[in-house]
Amino acid sequence: MPRLSAWFVRAALVYLALGFTFGALMLANKGVPLHPALWRLLPAHIEFLLVGWTMQLALGVAFWILPRFWAEPPRGNEAGAWLAFGLLNLGVWLVGWGAVLAAPAGVIFLRRLAEIGAAVAFAAHAWPRIIPRN
Ligand code: HEM
Repeated sequence: MPRLSAWFVRAALVYLALGFTFGALMLANKGVPLHPALWRLLPAHIEFLLVGWTMQLALGVAFWILPRFWAEPPRGNEAGAWLAFGLLNLGVWLVGWGAVLAAPAGVIFLRRLAEIGAAVAFAAHAWPRIIPRN
C-alpha cells in the first residue's frame, strides 16, 4: 500500500471511531439524559462518518488501485492527492469542532471551500489515471 493510502485509511479509521463514539453518546443521551450539549455533536457525527470515514476510505483506496503508469513515478504527480488529503481533513476538522464550539459562519464557508478544494485536487490527480487497458 502506498504511503498516502496508509495515511488516508488510518485517518478514516480515526474518524470512524470518533463518529461512532459521538453517535453512541447521543443515543445514550436519548435514553438517559446526560447533558443537553451532547446534541451539538450531531454535525460532527454526520461529517466524521460521511466525509471523514466513508469518503476518505474511498479516496485512499482509489489512490492505491487506480491504473498506474509504466514510467516513474507510477502514480504520476502525487501532489494533488496529497493536497486533497490535507484539505479534506482540514474541512472535516473545521466542520466537527466548528459545530461543537458554535464557530462563526466564516468557518462554515471555509470548511466547504476546503472540501471542494479537496475534491478538485483529487480529481486533477486521478483524471490522467482513468484509462482502459487492453
Ligand atoms: C457510517 C455510520 C453512520 C452514519 C453515516 C451516520 C449518519 C447519521 C446521519 C446523517 C444522521 C442525521 C439523521 C437526521 O438528522 O435525520 C445521524 C443521526 C444520528 N446517529 Fe448516526 N450515523 C452512523 C452511525 C451511527 C452509530 C453507530 C450510532 C450509535 C451508536 C449513531 C447514532 C446516531 C444518533 C443518536 C443520531 C441522532 C438521531 C436523532 O436525530 O434522533 N449513528 N447519523
